[in-house]
Amino acid sequence: MGFTVALAGKGGVGKTTIAALAILYLLRKNKKPILAVDADANSNLNELLGVEVTHTVGGARESLKTDVPSGMPKDTFMEYKIQEAVIEGEGFDLLVMGRPEGPGCYCFPNSIIKRYIEILSKNYSYLVIDNEAGMEHISRLTARDVDLLIVVSDPSTRGILTAKRIYDLVKEMEIRVGKSLLLINKVNGNLAKEIVDMVDSMGLTLGGVVPSDSDIAKFDLAQRSLLELPNGNKAYDYVSGILKDYIP
Ligand SMILES: Nc1ncnc2c1ncn2[C@@H]1O[C@H](COP(=O)(O)OP(=O)(O)OP(=O)(O)O)[C@@H](O)[C@H]1O
Ligand SMILES: [Mg+2]
Repeated sequence: MGFTVALAGKGGVGKTTIAALAILYLLRKNKKPILAVDADANSNLNELLGVEVTHTVGGARESLKTDVPSGMPKDTFMEYKIQEAVIEGEGFDLLVMGRPEGPGCYCFPNSIIKRYIEILSKNYSYLVIDNEAGMEHISRLTARDVDLLIVVSDPSTRGILTAKRIYDLVKEMEIRVGKSLLLINKVNGNLAKEIVDMVDSMGLTLGGVVPSDSDIAKFDLAQRSLLELPNGNKAYDYVSGILKDYIP
């Protein structure tokens, strides 16, 4: 069973950026094969990984309504469609969940999707799941345990409050989380004492800090893949220094 890393946190704090840096870490450490899962409806992990999205799981789910050849069981069709949705990158594969469900009942396709993602993910040693701000749909996407939950915040009180809410939510959900890591991203200089105190008072443990980085900002503006970050990039070095203690 592959080691599963999932990202969560308030909007805009850097979940997708950290997911891409985690994938870069796995690639550089030759920890493969890797499946990157973009579970955000407004998916953009592909851009940070330099791959184009051709198929999505959402698209597969839609085609179940109209495109199943007569005589073919829906399960077989869905398995084929999910295989088709696996996009090959350099050294990793990417599965994009795509747009959310429209009106109507999706319980049946969702249960098939969950089953085939389970089967598919057995082919990988590492899964990195990028998420929307919420956590609810992780349980919709997979029944598997999350080995490492990275809760990302920015150095703001609202970011930390959201992190706390995520920790509380995880406790209520059926998925089991192995280790969790609170990571404060986009930090300029030292963390404000108020933030450190807030983390402490909420009973959270600060797992690491990632600095605000001008290369990351430049790559964002140029819409460049973070997998092309040069050696010695500050943000990457911080992330890899943290992940080495959490990812076997
Ligand atoms: N360490 C960093 N240094 C500089 N810029 C950063 C850093 N981390 C993230 N950013 C920038 O912050 C912005 C938001 O990052 P990102 O898209 O990764 O956040 P997100 O949490 O995934 O957002 P969303 O909730 O919309 O999915 C991007 O422009 C990204 O380039
Ligand atoms: Mg994102």
